[in-house]
Amino acid sequence: MRKKIVAGNWKMNLNLEEAKVLVSELKVSLDNHSAERVAQNRPTLPDVVLFPPYVYLTRILDVFFNYEGVSIGAQNCHHKEHGAYTGEVSASMIRSVGASHVIIGHSERREQFGEGDELLAEKVKQSLKNDLKVIFCCGEKLPERESGKHFQVVSDQLHKGLMWLEEDQLKNVVIAYEPVWAIGTGVTASPGQAQEMHAYIRGLVADKYGKKAADNMSILYGGSCNAKNARELFTNADVDGGLIGGASLKSADFFQIIQSFD
Ligand code: PGA
Repeated sequence: MRKKIVAGNWKMNLNLEEAKVLVSELKVSLDNHSAERVAQNRPTLPDVVLFPPYVYLTRILDVFFNYEGVSIGAQNCHHKEHGAYTGEVSASMIRSVGASHVIIGHSERREQFGEGDELLAEKVKQSLKNDLKVIFCCGEKLPERESGKHFQVVSDQLHKGLMWLEEDQLKNVVIAYEPVWAIGTGVTASPGQAQEMHAYIRGLVADKYGKKAADNMSILYGGSCNAKNARELFTNADVDGGLIGGASLKSADFFQIIQSFD
């Protein structure tokens, strides 16, 4: 069975004090709620993955040390193992501090930092080699959707960036569909649009790797997903959770999203 996941991408937000408040509130909510669920025999919450800025990784890892159901990851990594790359952080460094995940291919990296498919494929390679689980992002821009090219764009991004992997590597990969026009805009894909694209993506995985691999692939939705719309998005058969930006910065909102599969 594929996993349900709610991931919080903090981007370049929060100072250390704010980050500490956020995670301590979140932890209290998770503690209380998990105990309640066990008492009521309800299914466990989805996996939670937090993506703080690099500088807070070890702090946040300490807060959730050995805490079941919560993992910590980095928002990016460099595509080389080590070397003279001032200001950069490698996958092996991220792994060495105990983080388990990394986001690759976020549209903000593609757009603002010119990261193209080949580079992203290298980053995926480095990450998996260093035992990090990859959340690989794809998604079309508004003109691409308006001109009906959205399926082709997503297919290209996935084939070039990700789907050269061997089948057994896929178990360490999660796909996030994030239409660029929905990220940080307050405009969310409709549940129908999300389900349509997620089913298409699962079909691409099935065509290349077979039905079992496709059935096991968690596909997250991202783009103005919030405490109000998460439940409707998550009821779709092929939407296995969310990659949450803005709404992951408030513990109450994020926790409500975490509970949105109930
Ligand atoms: P948003 O960001 O939820 O603020 O739209 C999502 C993302 O970029 O991952």
